[in-house]
Amino acid sequence: MARLLLIIGGGIAAYKSLELIRRARDQGHSLRVVMTAGAQKFVTPLSVGAVSGGPVFTDLWALDGEHEIGHIRLSREADLIVVAPATADLMARMAGGHADDLATAVLLAADKPVLAAPAMNPRMWAHPATQRNVAQVAADGIGFVGPERGEMAESGEAGLGRMAEPMQILAAIEAALTTDQPLSGKHILVTSGPTLEPIDPVRFISNRSSGKQGHAIATAAARMGARVSLISGPVAIPDPAGVTVKHVESAREMLAAAQSALPADIAIFAAAVADWRTPDVAGEKIKKAKGAPAPHLNLIENPDILRTLATPGSRRPDLVVGFAAETEHVIENAKKKLAAKGCDWIVANDVSPATGTFGGTKNTVHLVSAAGVENWPELTKDSVAERLMQRIVETLEKARTPK
Ligand code: PMT
Repeated sequence: MARLLLIIGGGIAAYKSLELIRRARDQGHSLRVVMTAGAQKFVTPLSVGAVSGGPVFTDLWALDGEHEIGHIRLSREADLIVVAPATADLMARMAGGHADDLATAVLLAADKPVLAAPAMNPRMWAHPATQRNVAQVAADGIGFVGPERGEMAESGEAGLGRMAEPMQILAAIEAALTTDQPLSGKHILVTSGPTLEPIDPVRFISNRSSGKQGHAIATAAARMGARVSLISGPVAIPDPAGVTVKHVESAREMLAAAQSALPADIAIFAAAVADWRTPDVAGEKIKKAKGAPAPHLNLIENPDILRTLATPGSRRPDLVVGFAAETEHVIENAKKKLAAKGCDWIVANDVSPATGTFGGTKNTVHLVSAAGVENWPELTKDSVAERLMQRIVETLEKARTPK
């Protein structure tokens, strides 16, 4: 069981931290809590202390605090520091290396992993300044869980910015505490879900990908210690814990997001990217006129994200893994894709409707590489992800072993 130091920032989501404390204690973790001045406007140190069962630290300059514990000891005596909610302001101060209150001083003095659960208004989250700070904080090695998409406390506001739910944060805590992290120090790029190609303001071309396979891969990679950038098309499943997620719609947006996530050590392309789009997106809803012929849809090819990123060059990830979604001649077609796309491995799966691969929870895959074909049994998508990451770890270890 771990010693957690929870830093509660000043946002309305602070009320969820009480539940997080309760759940973490149920799991046997011990907690010390630091509250910013803002946090105390939303929940009181008294209620936090009652739930956490210990003192709550609020003031960098409190003599008692400095004598008894001090901000250095507070961070040194924890196994993991969790910032929840991590507000826009707190992250800006973390990115800038501030140390003018107890929370930021503890974070600057930290020699332990830090996990942040951002929570703020969607516009604040989307603001370029916040995104710059998030990128800086992530580059400094801090892990993220969330934010989630949903209703805000402010009435009528919805979007990306809700703090992850306490159980999701707890899962990220468990993952961060896992000591067997063979992918730590690696940056892994994963694409997942479908793309959506507009026809007019209300119609689009897409496919049945749920994102379950790609998101499971991102989760497994994060659990093994990798820094993960997940580029996701529109899906109805939650963002994986401890992963930086960029939500996109079209293939072109997915390509741009994947390119801007580089450099990466490993890239895995599980997204079902629409091969075609129409260049003539109508500005208004296309009308159905009585007696008029059905409109003709002019299609052009989308950029191939996998092939673009697998092209040899300084930014090519060391290991590029594509998927092949086939309804016939699965292995034969996968071998052709391996050559045509220039990737190192192809994970081939049969997506005929009878298999239930699209949208389902199970998958039967074949790992195709220059070394041959491995036929895996039917597994849950989580197990496919786990096994794929283990194969990657083995390959990295082999590459490190002197011949
Ligand atoms: O999302 P789920 O419901 O869990 O379903 C999982 C899945 C079936 C979507 C997944 O396992 C899978 O097979 N993903 C690849 C789907 C696909 O588009 O395959 P493809 O054979 O058409 O493409 C081959 C590879 O090129 C894929 O890695 C694809 O991501 C990539 N590609 C394709 C076209 C394009 N324009 N850009 C690409 O990067």
